[in-house]
Amino acid sequence: MKSKLEQIRKDAIKAFEQATDPKTIEKLEKQFLGRKAELARIAKDIKKIAKDKRPEIGKLINEVKRDIASAVNKQRATSSAGASQTSSKFDYTLPGIAPATGHLHPITQFLEKIEDIFIKMGYEVVEGPELEDQKYNFDLLNVPEDHPSRDIQDTFYVSREDKKGRPYVLRTHTSPVQIRALESRKPPVRLLVPGRVFRNERTDAGHETTFYQCEALVIDKNIRVTDLIGTLELFIKRLYGDDVKIRVRPHFYPFTEPSLDVDMSCLLCGGKGCSFCKQSGWIETLGAGMVHPNVLKNMKVDPKEYSGFAFGLGIDRLMMLYYGVDDIRLSYSGDLRFIEQF
Ligand code: DAH
Repeated sequence: MKSKLEQIRKDAIKAFEQATDPKTIEKLEKQFLGRKAELARIAKDIKKIAKDKRPEIGKLINEVKRDIASAVNKQRATSSAGASQTSSKFDYTLPGIAPATGHLHPITQFLEKIEDIFIKMGYEVVEGPELEDQKYNFDLLNVPEDHPSRDIQDTFYVSREDKKGRPYVLRTHTSPVQIRALESRKPPVRLLVPGRVFRNERTDAGHETTFYQCEALVIDKNIRVTDLIGTLELFIKRLYGDDVKIRVRPHFYPFTEPSLDVDMSCLLCGGKGCSFCKQSGWIETLGAGMVHPNVLKNMKVDPKEYSGFAFGLGIDRLMMLYYGVDDIRLSYSGDLRFIEQF
């Protein structure tokens, strides 16, 4: 009986080793382990074996069963791995799918270009709060109480109140940071202030209630208006190339004296006149001027000893010109079809 069981074990293992397809394995499994298999018959007839031999034979039956079962499992595993290797269409040498990554907003990318130009000229980049005290947004910048820019039609007021019981504002320009920065600095200073500003505007392709400005402030001994114009010309040329021209017109700002507006030649028509520049050949780019003596005094700087220039750039329109964007509202739409083009 013992040799019979050994023979079954040998035959089964050999048979499974040669079986490669799942169907044959299943057939062999039935043949060796099924209810009608020889092994099952021997197990059933164990009572016919002499009592003292039964434990030994029973143990052997179990061992043979176990060995055959593990041969079945082993062969199943190798045959299915083989099958997947030969029949799978997946090509492991294909390049992977790159995960989607974000990037900086075109306004931020453009601001960084501007910062780079000024950092190379020795400027320090500083920032200030978007929720601003009227003291900084208007008073200390020499803006009188009755100035039209304070009008509710231009400025967003919020419920928080200052010491005089006046409401705070969403800053209407980056100029208040001029005053804030001089609270912790002494001249000479060269500052650049990028930031978001807010105005109560009716929106269209060229106007938004939220937009970006970049302010500059230089205070030192013997700073003259020619330093201002030279700096602006260099900046505009570094940004847009040597062919761009600038034009300076007199203007009025309460915080500078004299004040000027600076235009650059239209890049789209080369100065000939087109719809973007309203046929004038020029694009309004920034406000500028020599810091008003009252503002210097508010900064605790002596106007007899120091002078300075300042300017405020509207970033959005310059960015639009740089990248060829024709509607300012796209910038703040959050529309990925727009953002992903940069
Ligand atoms: N703050 C002005 C505005 O938002 C722009 C400006 C004009 C800034 C003249 C300046 C300046 O620093 O000197 O319209």
